Amino acid sequence: MRDIIIVGNWKMNKNNAETKAFFEEVDGVAKTDKGLYGVGVPFTDLRTALDNAENLIVAAENCHFEDSGAFTGEVSVPMLEELGVKYCIIGHSERRQMFGDTDETVNKKAKKLLDAGITPILCIGETEAEYDAGKTKDVITAQLNGSLKDIPAEAYENIVIAYEPIWAIGTGKSASVEIAEDCCKLVRDVVRDMVGDEAADKVRIQYGGSVKPGNIVEYMAQEDIDGALIGGASLKPDSFIEIIEKTK
Ligand code: PGA
Repeated sequence: MRDIIIVGNWKMNKNNAETKAFFEEVDGVAKTDKGLYGVGVPFTDLRTALDNAENLIVAAENCHFEDSGAFTGEVSVPMLEELGVKYCIIGHSERRQMFGDTDETVNKKAKKLLDAGITPILCIGETEAEYDAGKTKDVITAQLNGSLKDIPAEAYENIVIAYEPIWAIGTGKSASVEIAEDCCKLVRDVVRDMVGDEAADKVRIQYGGSVKPGNIVEYMAQEDIDGALIGGASLKPDSFIEIIEKTK
């Protein structure tokens, strides 16, 4: 009932020439009417990515919540909108940890994006210490309540939530299928409590954290996992193509 959505997250990798080469190799493979495949790219690669994307969707990796002004180095939602960007990752744990993103600023970004018709891919997830202390539920609940505050139920069909346990990001130590499904179900249950059944059934939830060609199929077989956010394994055309071919 929910279409799948598998998105790469290039982080601070690839220049324009590399972006063009990636799209030339991968875009044709992503042709399907069953779900969505795409990549989040650095701001400087957006134009090239969009110009070379027929099948892949293109996401920005961040945005600012003000339209314009004295925010040196930032990029606004209207700027993304003008380029034709339709997806934007927000609240990635690297941004929360290194660049001061909070549930409050992420909430402002989410609202701005939704108003512009851009789908936010909202990242949440707990640290290893929080996981070990059994605090996953509390952390996820607080992040969802804060990041999606005052967003109406009707908007959730245009929201993607990426559950990414921080201990699984870039570590090669992916969450077991059981943990990933339990946590994605938990995310859906929290959404259910916040805004009701319809929104919870429509919101697409991704698992992220060391997803690769060898484990994507088992994650995608889970009831509450509608897709994946993929860092390392999205950088090489070969591995991303394998992921697409195994799931489309
Ligand atoms: P990874 O990164 O797949 O390299 O673990 C995931 C992410 O940061 O979104």
